[in-house]
Amino acid sequence: MKKVLVTGGTGFIGSHTVTELVDAGYEVVIADNLSNSRTGALDGIQKITGVQPAFEKIDLCDKVAFADMLRRHCGIDAIIHFAAHKAVGESVRQPLKYYRNNLDSLINILELMPEHAIEHLIFSSSCTVYGQPEKLPVTEQSPIQPATSPYGNTKQVSEAIIRDTVAASTNIQSIALRYFNPIGAHASALIGELPTGVPNNLVPFITQTAIGIREQLSVFGNDYNTPDGSCIRDYIHVVDLAKAHVVAVGRLLDRKNKAAFEVFNLGTGHGVSVLELVHAFEKTTGVKLNYKIVARRPGDTEQVWADTAYANKELGWKAQSTLEETLLSAWKWEKYYKESGGWE
Ligand code: UFG
Repeated sequence: MKKVLVTGGTGFIGSHTVTELVDAGYEVVIADNLSNSRTGALDGIQKITGVQPAFEKIDLCDKVAFADMLRRHCGIDAIIHFAAHKAVGESVRQPLKYYRNNLDSLINILELMPEHAIEHLIFSSSCTVYGQPEKLPVTEQSPIQPATSPYGNTKQVSEAIIRDTVAASTNIQSIALRYFNPIGAHASALIGELPTGVPNNLVPFITQTAIGIREQLSVFGNDYNTPDGSCIRDYIHVVDLAKAHVVAVGRLLDRKNKAAFEVFNLGTGHGVSVLELVHAFEKTTGVKLNYKIVARRPGDTEQVWADTAYANKELGWKAQSTLEETLLSAWKWEKYYKESGGWE
């Protein structure tokens, strides 16, 4: 049984990936400092898979504690590194928090991998590295644009750090997965997206408005150069995204990668506007949303969606869920979470 360390494994994408890895027969060790997640995710994973993965509450920036953890969990074959701060607006206000956390943790991982004979790394990157692409859909070859936030810059710099480290190393092999906008929840509704405080992202804000936690959804701008004036994104079901990680880790472990550092877009290939998403939610759930158009949100990209041809061909992976299925899963999760009284 191959052993995978999942950093940030109690978080949104992390917890869904852990269930897919366990289902695929991997032994999983989760490392998370619970800064933006709760241990309730572990119970959800256990209920879904019947397996309780080892869990370590640890800050990866603490290199001594991290090294100690790797000694206790020897024989790790691959690391999937999700753990990072990810709120764009907060990163503008507190840039050093983002640079310190997101870069220190990655550097610690890369320094400790050779010492513990770990050769394979999957890195959570983001479509944010493309900024506002000149040509859409955006391919992996599209030029990287200057980041619009410190958060986005940590993803660009992280990719560069990995690229340089891999080039200088004879052993480390890595894949960076550039996520478009992950939304939705596991079909069981036992795990899902659980932002702490007021959600920054669109879909949790929608479901919290629909269930009555938030009074009104703000749509940030309807004067963009798009058909209905609102921003366009590529919303991908988190379970589809999670499955791509299982494929990517298998690709590295089976030595099927074509270069020591590879990059793939993970999206659906379809652009959906904010207003289209709002109306799709209303139509599929039958719940009317109280929303109003407000000013643009600083730092937002106008429109971006993925060219997925390379990931589809090379990984043999394709996003399967429709937007309606994905929105319904997010809504089911929000209702279940409320009915179950919430996690501790
Ligand atoms: N939006 C609203 N109202 C809201 C929230 C969002 O209209 O209350 C709009 C935004 O303006 C944007 C779209 O919905 O046009 C999507 O916004 P999100 O905040 O959900 O996601 P982003 O596209 O801004 O993506 C950012 C980063 C990603 C990161 C993601 C999740 O660019 O790298 O947040 O943290 F993965």
